[in-house]
This record gives sequence, C-alpha cells and structure tokens, in this order.
Amino acid sequence: MIHPSKVYGVIRVASTVVFIFTVSFLLHLSRLTSSDRRNEITIREAATEDPNLPKMVLIVTYQRCGSSFFGELFDENIDSFYVYEPVDSYYVAKYSTVEGLNTPTDISTYWNGSVRIQPVDEIEGVAAHLNDLFTCNMDDLPVQFFNHKYWYLFAPDFQSSQPEYRKCLRSTKKVSAHKCREDHVSTLCPPNLGQDWQSHAICAGLVDGGHVYKEAMGKYRECINDLRTSIKRCIEISRRNCMASKLRVMKSVRTSMKSVSLLMQALPSLRVIHLVRDPRGVVLSRMRQPSFRGTASNGSLTEEAKFFCRDVARELKLRKKLEKQYPGRIMEVIYEKFVQDPLDYSKKVYDHIGVPLPDYIEEFIQKNTRGKTDSVAKSLKWQSKLTYGNVLKIKEYCQYFYENFQHEWT
Ligand SMILES: *[C@@H]1O[C@H](CO)[C@@H](O)[C@H](O)[C@H]1NC(C)=O
Ligand SMILES: *[C@@H]1O[C@H](CO)[C@@H](O)[C@H](O)[C@H]1NC(C)=O
Repeated sequence: MIHPSKVYGVIRVASTVVFIFTVSFLLHLSRLTSSDRRNEITIREAATEDPNLPKMVLIVTYQRCGSSFFGELFDENIDSFYVYEPVDSYYVAKYSTVEGLNTPTDISTYWNGSVRIQPVDEIEGVAAHLNDLFTCNMDDLPVQFFNHKYWYLFAPDFQSSQPEYRKCLRSTKKVSAHKCREDHVSTLCPPNLGQDWQSHAICAGLVDGGHVYKEAMGKYRECINDLRTSIKRCIEISRRNCMASKLRVMKSVRTSMKSVSLLMQALPSLRVIHLVRDPRGVVLSRMRQPSFRGTASNGSLTEEAKFFCRDVARELKLRKKLEKQYPGRIMEVIYEKFVQDPLDYSKKVYDHIGVPLPDYIEEFIQKNTRGKTDSVAKSLKWQSKLTYGNVLKIKEYCQYFYENFQHEWT
C-alpha cells in the first residue's frame, strides 16, 4: 500500500498539477491494491528488492527506433511475460478508436502541428494500465487488451511468446472488440486517434454526448462485457503466465515519461530502458508508411523530424529529473550503439535488470544481426538517401537531441 506520507515528497519537487494527478493516481492504485492482496504485497515488498520477486522492465521508445527487434531480447526469453505495445489497447478502450490507429505522434501532436499536452486522466490511465499488467491485475485491464490484433499480427516474430494464450484466443476468434465497435459505434467514434478530439471526448464519456451516443455507447459496452465473458478462459491463461513469470517486460512507443514517473513511484523495482535512434534514420524509415508517422507532418520528412525531436527533447528533460529521483533505474540505449556490438550491449541491458543473459538469446542475437557490418550499414542508410539540405534542417530541429544523447554522431 502506498502511504500518504510518500505523496508529500512529490509536492516539494513537482508543480501543483503534478501533485493533483499524483494524489489521485495513488488513490486509484490504492483502490486497486486493496481489492487485490497480491498487488499490495508486490508493491510493498518490491521496495526491498527481494531477488525472488519478478523483475519488471518497461522499454520506452518511439516508432522506427528499432524497438521491435530490441524487444525480441525479451520476447525470446522463456522466463518472460513479454507484451508488444500494450498501450495501443488503452487508447482503443478509452476513445473507441480502431486497433493500431493510435499513432504515437498523434498522441503528442495535433494534426495542425501544435503540441498536444496530454490530459491528466490519460497520463494516469496509461500508468494504471501498465501497472495492472506488471502486477497481473487482469481484472482491471480492458478486454480490448486481451483481444487486440497485435497478439496475432506479430505472432511470427515480435510477439512469439505465450503460444498457449494465442491458441486460446484463436478458438474464440468469432467474437472481437473490433466487431463490437463496428456494430455499434463506428459511425460515431472516429477510427483514428487525433481525428476529432471533441468526438473522442464524447466517446470517452468525458463530455455528455446526448441521446444517440448514450444509446450506442450503452450497446457497445454491453457487447464488450459479453466478450469478456466469452474469453474468460483465455484471460485466466494470461493471468497464469503473468503470475508465473520471473521477468515481466513491456515495450511501448505510446508511453510518455509523465506516465513513467507515476509507474516508477508505484513500482519501486521497475527498471526503465529509454531507447532512441538517430532522427535521420527514424524519419527516413517513417516515410515508408503513413502508419509509421503522425498526421501533422503530412509526409514531409523534415516536419516529421521537427515533431519527433520536439517530443524526445521534452521526454529527455523529464527523464533527467527522474534519474536524479531514482538513481540507477533508467538505462539509455542508443540504437546506433546497440548495433555496433549487439551481443555486448545485450549483456549490459540484462545486467541493468539483474538477470543473466541466457545462452539461447546470445545465439538468437548472433543469428539475427548477421555480423556487425550489416546492421551498422542498415542503421546508416540515411546517409545515401537524405539530401544535404534535409540533413542540415534535421540537425537544426534536433540540436538538443544531438547534444544530449552521447554518441559520435556522424
Ligand atoms: C490546433 O488544433 C487544436 C485542437 O483542435 C486546437 O486546440 C489549437 O488551437 C490549434 N492550434 C492552432 C495554432 O491552430
Ligand atoms: C499535404 O501534402 C499534399 C501533397 O504534398 C498537399 O497537396 C496538401 O495540401 C498538404 N496538406 C496540408 C494540410 O498541408
């Protein structure tokens, strides 16, 4: 249980706004913990870093930073409960959007290019969603998480763990949260996050949507509740997998440091890996597909760099504060450094978590990076693809990035 005295530590270092959401988030957590004794024990004992307790790791990253492959270091680990992009389902459940259409840049940037300040309820909601996952509190996770298409879509590679769970899901495939959405609210709730924030707010129940929304949303919720009953057996498998795991790892391109801050406070054993990549490589890769980038840049490579670097600069500034508050719990990984010597770097990553790197993961890394030169060459592909003018512009937008992430940038 989190004591009120802990909250006062927050007042001194944070603004009133942070204070208000921290208190209400902690109240939210204490409500959850008092209804689940296992959680209570986990949260209290984690402070003493009992070696028998499961290790918890959150990979905080951005689209096209190499995180799908990086996450494999844990997806391949037979002792881990690994989840690829668990926060997409938070947005699906909150705003009734379509799975996979909650593009990270659209969370942080309005379509007109202005910064979107994440509202407090969303910052807390993402933290609570991840906290529930780390503590196996499946009852408070939305059914949109359990039923999410990423469980199937990335099963061959990036979400290959938990085969028994996926097998169970397949046997219930005739029902889905997506179908509930299609049947009841697809004409009312925009499919893409960021499309129309007024409608999103109505769909999230944050403002009164009037008669039509109430009726449709009521039916939608009924459909969602029925779905929960029909996949109950699978949810139990997921809970068992989670409870039995010694290592719980989530990888997310949709979690801001503000949510991370709340999680680090709630879960004293949580380790955070902040994975970034050279903006030139990031934006070049994002140009390959609209779903890899936000809407605001409208396909402009340099605009995309502007938004990416604006976000990462803000995130890094908050991370630096968190590092002072929680020394030794956050590890920075620069993708370009990782590919120079993936094996050595993976050992460092596992060291940070306090778990030995299994032999079979070493083999997996060696097999999949096919020697040093190939991965390094790939990571530097932008050099032959970007114009000199674009490189200059990106360097200008990303000055803070290049000055604050320590690497011999070319
Ligand atoms: C951009 O869009 C947001 C959300 O619709 C709005 O609140 C904001 O005022 C707009 N900014 C500009 C500069 O038009
Ligand atoms: C987006 O780009 C297209 C093609 O370059 C252009 O025609 C359109 O006007 C742009 N839209 C906005 C909103 O800037």
